[in-house]
Amino acid sequence: MEKSKQYIYIVQASGSTNVCKIGITDNLERRLNEYNNMTGKSKSVVYQYLFACEVKNMETVEKDIKATFLHLREQKNEEIYFYNSDLLKMYVDFIKSHKLFADEIVIKPEEKKIIEKVVPKTTPSLKERGISSKDLLEKAKKIGHDEFYTRYEDVEKEVSMYDKSVWKNQVVFCNCDDAFNADSEKKSSAFAWYFYKNFKELGLKKLICTHFSGIVDLFNEGTEGYVAYISYTTDGEQIQKEFPKNYNGSFDHPISLKILNEEADIVCTNPPFSRMIDYWKIVIRSGKKFLIISNITNPITPTFIPYFKNNQVWAGYNRVDWFQNPKRQLTDAAGHWYTNIPIDNRPKYELLKIVPLKDIPEKNKKYDDSKTLIVDNGYIPDNVKKPFAVSARPVLNGVLEKGYKIVQTNQYFPYVKGKKGFGRVLIQKI
Ligand SMILES: C[S@@+](CC[C@H](N)C(=O)[O-])C[C@H]1O[C@@H](n2cnc3c(N)ncnc32)[C@H](O)[C@@H]1O
Repeated sequence: MEKSKQYIYIVQASGSTNVCKIGITDNLERRLNEYNNMTGKSKSVVYQYLFACEVKNMETVEKDIKATFLHLREQKNEEIYFYNSDLLKMYVDFIKSHKLFADEIVIKPEEKKIIEKVVPKTTPSLKERGISSKDLLEKAKKIGHDEFYTRYEDVEKEVSMYDKSVWKNQVVFCNCDDAFNADSEKKSSAFAWYFYKNFKELGLKKLICTHFSGIVDLFNEGTEGYVAYISYTTDGEQIQKEFPKNYNGSFDHPISLKILNEEADIVCTNPPFSRMIDYWKIVIRSGKKFLIISNITNPITPTFIPYFKNNQVWAGYNRVDWFQNPKRQLTDAAGHWYTNIPIDNRPKYELLKIVPLKDIPEKNKKYDDSKTLIVDNGYIPDNVKKPFAVSARPVLNGVLEKGYKIVQTNQYFPYVKGKKGFGRVLIQKI
C-alpha cells in the first residue's frame, strides 16, 4: 500500500490576524474542512491556509518548529503561534530550510480551496536571499529575548522610590519601543503610560517616547517608527507625534541620538537584550541620567563589569521577575534595574553581612585552587586585604557603596579541585 503523504500547514482564521496555527496532517483538504466545520465556531469565521508543504516526517518537523519558536507559541494551546507577515516569512523559511522538507504546495486563498499541486519553488530559497538557516535561528532567538514587556507596576515600584526632586523639571526619554497612545494603555508601553499618568505628580518638563518599527508590533502602533512628545503649557496637555521619513525608531538612529544628546535629561526604558551592549555604551557615553532594566547577571558579565568598576552604573532598588510576552502572558525572566541616579539608603544593605572572616560560617566561605577566597550567602569579610570572589548578588545589594571595589574587569571563574565553578567578580576592601 502506498504510504500517505505528510504535510505541515499554517492556517489562520478570519478575524484572528495576530495569531495563526501550525499543524500537521495527511490530508490538507479534510483538515481545512474540519477547521471550517468546527462546532461552536461562528459561521462568519473562515479558516484559510497561509502556507502548506509536504515533508518527509511531519512529527519531527513539527517538534522542531515547536522548539525553535517556543517563545512565539501559546502556552495553553501549543498549535497557536504569534502572527505577522515577517513572522510568517520566518516560519516558512524555517520549514523550507528543514532537511525533511519535500515540496511546497500552491495555495490559492481567494478560491478558499487547495490545489495540491507540486510546483517548483515559488519563493526564492534562503540561499538565493543570502540567509543561512543559522541566521534564521539567531533571528528567532533574538526576537524571543527582546520581546519581554515591562509591567506598569514594576515601573511604578521603582520610579516612586527616587526622591521627587530627581524628576522635577526633567525631560524623560523612553527610547526602546515605548509606544505612546493617549487613548489606550494597551497601545502604550508601561514606561510611556506611567510617565504620562504621573507627569504632573513628578513635575516633569517633557516626556519623549519612541516607537520602534520592529518585527513584533506588540502595541499595535503600526509599522512606522515615530517620536511622541508630551508636555503641558498654559493651554493644557500638548501631544505631538512625528513620523520622520525613514525613521525606524531605533535608539541608535541619528534622530534618536539627537534627542538623547540634546534634549533628554533622564533615559528610562527596558532595552532589547540583543542590543544590550550597544545600548549601555550609547547611554553611558551620553552622560545623561538613566534608569533601565537589564539582566540580573550584568555585574558579573565581562562587557558590563568595567561600568560597575568605574562607578558609572549601579543597581537600582528592585529586581524584576515578571514581564509580559507578545501574547500578553506573564513570563518570568531575571531582570534588575540599573541606574546612575544616586540611591539613598538602599534597603538591600540589610542583606549584606559584613563581618570578620572568622564569623563567616564555614559553609559560606572556601578557597579555590589558586587560594582565592570565595564567599556566599551575603557574607563579606571586613578584615581580608586580598581580593575575594563574590556573585552578582552583593553587588546588586550595594557592596560597592560600603567600602569595597571591583579589582578585575574579567569574570572570575574559581576552580575547586580542578572543577570550574560559577562566574563571579573579584572585589577588595578599599
Ligand atoms: C524588552 S522590550 C521592551 C519594550 C518596552 N520598552 C517595554 O519596556 O515594555 C525591548 C523592545 O525593544 C525593541 N527593539 C529592538 N531593537 C531595537 C532598537 N534598535 N531600538 C529600539 N528598540 C528596539 C524590541 O522590538 C522590543 O519591543
